[in-house]
Amino acid sequence: MNLKGRHFLTLLDYKPAELKEIIDLAIKMKSGKVVKKLPEKTLGMLFQKPSTRTRISFEAGMTQLDGHAIYLDFRTTQLGRGETISDTSKVLSRYCDILMARLYKQTDIIELANASSIPVINALTDLYHPCQTMADMMTVVEKKGSLDGLKITFFGDCGFNMCNSTIIGFSKLGADVVAVCPDKDIYMPNPEILNAAKKQAVGSISVEHDVIKGAEDADVIYTDTWVSMGQEDAEQRIKDLEPYQVNTKLVGHANKDVLVMHCLPAHRGNEITDEVIDGPHSIVFDEAENRLHVQKAIMVALLGV
Ligand code: CP
Ligand code: NVA
Repeated sequence: MNLKGRHFLTLLDYKPAELKEIIDLAIKMKSGKVVKKLPEKTLGMLFQKPSTRTRISFEAGMTQLDGHAIYLDFRTTQLGRGETISDTSKVLSRYCDILMARLYKQTDIIELANASSIPVINALTDLYHPCQTMADMMTVVEKKGSLDGLKITFFGDCGFNMCNSTIIGFSKLGADVVAVCPDKDIYMPNPEILNAAKKQAVGSISVEHDVIKGAEDADVIYTDTWVSMGQEDAEQRIKDLEPYQVNTKLVGHANKDVLVMHCLPAHRGNEITDEVIDGPHSIVFDEAENRLHVQKAIMVALLGV
């Protein structure tokens, strides 16, 4: 595998074999079987939205690799005073070895990447959250051996970053993905992304509105917040999405060894109940931990070390 110098903006840009190799490397680095280091390498981390897991896992990951990470945001850099993303990117490329960015618009991260002479990693945009999906796929591989033929059902807001990346990533690695949401455009998967994902899928992709049908025979149940960062009309969204809550009754329709996943942060009592997130099927903290491991592998791969 040679991913040196590549950007990591969407899983659509990567072949199944490339994603599998990164996950394999992450599992080996996690166990200590493979040791990689990035001495004297600097990661620039640019945030336009808040974060707990992403910031800490990238920063701690870089520490563990003997590199260094620098936190940057729009408020305390000249970006807040109107310096362009592309000028910023050209400058950061002169100081850093790799960048990650959490921005609202995918077009902005593309602008950042186009102006950059070093790899850029998407740490969440409105459209995608590829690092989260890599951690999620790694976690399911650890628990089930592979994703081949597994049914993964995503409940709730299927029109935003987390469902988009779940559809693309899991179907590429052979899982059958079902997106279960209200029959309203804003909650449905983006048609362009759905088509692009279907063209590349190894497993199947379908959209469903019936929660029971979605849950039946599911090997993995996934959910995310009903009100993502930057979304408005919280009250209406909560009302519309309430029937899609992941609760004990819903989980009861799935396979008996179903894995329950959530990228976190969770809004307990909305998209997922305490009983489920703290229950025996939940693997949410394993997913969170694997952000650290898989992102270390992504940085090692993009830096060609
Ligand atoms: N899952 C995730 O990306 O969490 P943060 O928003 O805390 O980074
Ligand atoms: N969909 C959520 C994911 C948070 C990690 C958001 O964008 O807020």
